[in-house]
Amino acid sequence: MPVAIITGASKGLGRALAEGLAAHGWDLVLDARTPEVLQETAAGLLAYGTRVTAVPGDVTDARHRSELVAAAWKLGGVDLLVSNASALGAEPLVRLDALPLEGLRRALEVNVIAALALVQEALPLLRASGTGAVITVSSDAAAEAYETWGGYGASKAALDHLAAVLGEEEPGLRVWAVDPGDMATDLYAAAVPDDDDPRPTPASVVPAFLRLLDERPASGRYGAPSLLEGGR
Ligand SMILES: NC(=O)c1ccc[n+]([C@@H]2O[C@H](COP(=O)([O-])OP(=O)(O)OC[C@H]3O[C@@H](n4cnc5c(N)ncnc54)[C@H](OP(=O)(O)O)[C@@H]3O)[C@@H](O)[C@H]2O)c1
Repeated sequence: MPVAIITGASKGLGRALAEGLAAHGWDLVLDARTPEVLQETAAGLLAYGTRVTAVPGDVTDARHRSELVAAAWKLGGVDLLVSNASALGAEPLVRLDALPLEGLRRALEVNVIAALALVQEALPLLRASGTGAVITVSSDAAAEAYETWGGYGASKAALDHLAAVLGEEEPGLRVWAVDPGDMATDLYAAAVPDDDDPRPTPASVVPAFLRLLDERPASGRYGAPSLLEGGR
């Protein structure tokens, strides 16, 4: 069975991806900071008959990252690493003139530094996989200038660039930065609490991620809505 590490997998897109991968026979190592919610999600995945290891912790904690990779090694290795856990930097989001610098530091720490650190930790196992892949979860805020999304967007732009360079440096891997599009999740509600327009569910974009894993296109940046329509 292939093995995936998914960060931020207790709810939202991470949980939906975990369900999608479990349904396709993947063994999983999952993390999130809130142990009870993570355990509940992991317990729900047992119905798929795959092996699921839940490792509660914060991706910014080096020891926790080592535990994630060690748990995957026990399941057989790392074939896929999904950097999905994310911080907004301010909740709700605020304009740059009011963005707390500590919030921006936290967004960079979670979204960029921890993501790279986990890649570094997992690289030997990803290279050994033969079909190793890294997915970094991006956002259209990385590419478009939306008021109040500046700090978070800057962190996602940095993550996109790391992914792009990693793809060049590791031709034996696939490295996909994926913009999932807007989704109805706690993160979106925390970012923009007054916006109650209906948004797609996280489960509705999972087929886009499964398509990448199935077709294994070149490393690069992909948009889930376009992947769902048959494009890139
Ligand atoms: N929702 C959208 O509209 C949207 C749009 C574009 C991109 N995205 C991206 O999609 C990804 C998933 O977001 P989502 O909307 O699904 O968010 P979500 O529903 O709030 O889920 C976030 C997950 O990450 C975990 N998490 C947060 N910080 C963590 C940390 N430091 N260490 C470990 N786990 C952590 C959370 O659990 P704990 O709180 O218990 O740790 C939770 O499991 C993110 O990368 C986000 O930037 C979302």
